[in-house]
Amino acid sequence: MGRYLITGGAGFIGSNFIHYLFEKHSDVQVLNLDKLTYAGNLENLTDIEKNPNYKFVKGDICNEPLVEELMQDVDYVVNFAAESHVDRSIGSPDDFIKTDVYGTFVLLEKARKYGIKKFIQISTDEVYGSIEKGSFVETDPLMPSSPYSASKSGADRLAYSYFVTYNLPVIITRCSNNYGPYQYPEKLIPLFVTNAIEDKKLPIYGDGKNVRDWIYVMDHCDAIDFVMQQGVDGEIYNIGGNNERNNLEITELILKGLGKSKELMTYVKDRPGHDRRYSLDCTKLNQMGWLPKYLFSDAMKLTIEWYKNNLEWWKKIKSGEYLDYYKKHYGL
Ligand code: NAD
Ligand code: TYD
Repeated sequence: MGRYLITGGAGFIGSNFIHYLFEKHSDVQVLNLDKLTYAGNLENLTDIEKNPNYKFVKGDICNEPLVEELMQDVDYVVNFAAESHVDRSIGSPDDFIKTDVYGTFVLLEKARKYGIKKFIQISTDEVYGSIEKGSFVETDPLMPSSPYSASKSGADRLAYSYFVTYNLPVIITRCSNNYGPYQYPEKLIPLFVTNAIEDKKLPIYGDGKNVRDWIYVMDHCDAIDFVMQQGVDGEIYNIGGNNERNNLEITELILKGLGKSKELMTYVKDRPGHDRRYSLDCTKLNQMGWLPKYLFSDAMKLTIEWYKNNLEWWKKIKSGEYLDYYKKHYGL
């Protein structure tokens, strides 16, 4: 029986990971600690909330007494909780430093105190910064370029220091861009899919030639589970989809998938400090036997279908707080 503390479990990847755990393993207990910021949504977990092996606690990972109390009954920690949107980190970095850096510190301290068996720090490929040619390996230096990726780098290295200094069994994962169900419609794919469904413009930053490696969220969840079983403490694992695309390709695929006109494409002012290309070398994980299972074309179809079938989920989000943010930042 494994007792998991999942932080940020009401967000996009965290909620998919909780679904994944209950589907994959029959003997897990999940404690989901989430502050329910704008990005946290308990509707991502309605099918699980009555499961006797699942418990939700609304709270902040920066809250030391709360984290201390919860950590006492836990074997494994998977830290997803973070402020996660680059554009928001440009507008107001404060919460990024607080949650992504200080919150990770609180979790590490309490994990150390209560001798947990495994601490998975969910880092990101963005910690390496941008690369014109070639791909980053795990030993490459970190050159983060946004307040988001700099905060994530701080947390990534802090987690490593707890392995080196205190022998805390830490594993760090650096994954590329995820897509799939329950992703907040401010990130490229859900924003463009939902805008296109509503015949709204798709705001493409700069020339649209920025490249990301795209991985289906369930493949990411599977890789986390894999490194929890097979990974070595103190190690870093790149997780990628082996699937680099520029933003124009993604946009055209979405429009084609929904049968919408290219006239919805609108070029807008570039994001400040916009990283040109992210690219991961995933040889280390691949040689251990893990490979992504989903084909991009299939998983994109599944994703587009999900947003078409769950209009209520995202319309509620887009009609509220998000809409104001969208208007303010993009003027669309
Ligand atoms: P998300 O924004 O959808 O979810 C973040 C969750 O964390 C939300 O439920 C939010 O309420 C919660 N949260 C925020 N601050 C908190 C706090 N102080 N205490 C407790 N809960 C808090 O993010 P996501 O896309 O699901 O990303 C999850 C993790 O994966 C993040 O650490 C992110 O850096 C990392 N990551 C994301 C991607 C991606 O493509 N989305 C890729 C690589 C790594
Ligand atoms: P995003 O989903 O914010 O992820 P990342 O953390 O990689 O920046 O953006 C993915 C890419 O899409 C990135 O190059 C910025 C671009 N983008 C747009 O062109 N328009 C948009 O409205 C958004 C949200 C992103």
